[in-house]
Amino acid sequence: MQAYSSGFAKVYQQKWGNFSAVVAPILLHFYRETPSGQENQPVLDLCCGAGHLARLLLEAGFPVTGLDLSEAMLQHARENCREYIEQGKAHFIQGDASDFAVEGKFGLVVSTYDAMNHLPDLEALENCFKCVRKLEPTAFVFDMNTRKGLKRWNGISISEEEDLMLINRGVYEEGLPKAWMRLTGFSKQENGSYERFEETVHNLAVPLNWVKEALLRSGWQKIRFTTLRDLKQDLAEPENEGRVFVVAEP
Ligand SMILES: C[S@@+](CC[C@H](N)C(=O)[O-])C[C@H]1O[C@@H](n2cnc3c(N)ncnc32)[C@H](O)[C@@H]1O
Repeated sequence: MQAYSSGFAKVYQQKWGNFSAVVAPILLHFYRETPSGQENQPVLDLCCGAGHLARLLLEAGFPVTGLDLSEAMLQHARENCREYIEQGKAHFIQGDASDFAVEGKFGLVVSTYDAMNHLPDLEALENCFKCVRKLEPTAFVFDMNTRKGLKRWNGISISEEEDLMLINRGVYEEGLPKAWMRLTGFSKQENGSYERFEETVHNLAVPLNWVKEALLRSGWQKIRFTTLRDLKQDLAEPENEGRVFVVAEP
């Protein structure tokens, strides 16, 4: 299980919303072209993190439910989307993406920024696909780091900003089922002192055809590997990408 701790969640909230800013317009464009999107059906954001993406979807007019394992991340999500929660348009719930059920109808289910790689194994991934399928959305769109992409995790990197010093130690060898990253950070607090945090995260490193087979076994019929460049353009060689976007439809 990989629920982010409070120290890491605070830094995530402050520093790592950029991916959502890039992804949101592309997901919105995709969803608006579907009948469910045109009917403004709600979106389920699985492993929603600090709610960066949820907020952008809410701003675009779609009700959103976010689900995440980490209460610390959910607290940021609730804060980031406070007015939409008050209006009854946003809900954030704690849960495990590999074993969940949520009330309501969702036109689209999304999961972004390595979240599916965070599940512990292929069995958990398949369970997740089944839980999503039961909701009967128009599509489930998620990204995954490929084994090629995870090669960039190998090694040590240090980044230093005025308010954050971050040391990443990554290990991934081809053939291993997971890549691991140990993050040690020092983040500046309001009183000027630095708080230390540690987080160890893993990414599942599985062949994409295994992912496809797990989706097919879970009842998804149309599975496409794409990139953010164009969610409609199928990739001929998805394993050559560092990150793919998977579009699964019933
Ligand atoms: C890299 S963050 C991505 C957050 C968000 N989707 C985004 O785009 O910024 C991964 C998130 O997955 C959550 N997570 C990891 N394992 C999970 C699980 N089994 N069920 C639900 N959430 C999980 C973590 O707590 C974290 O918030």
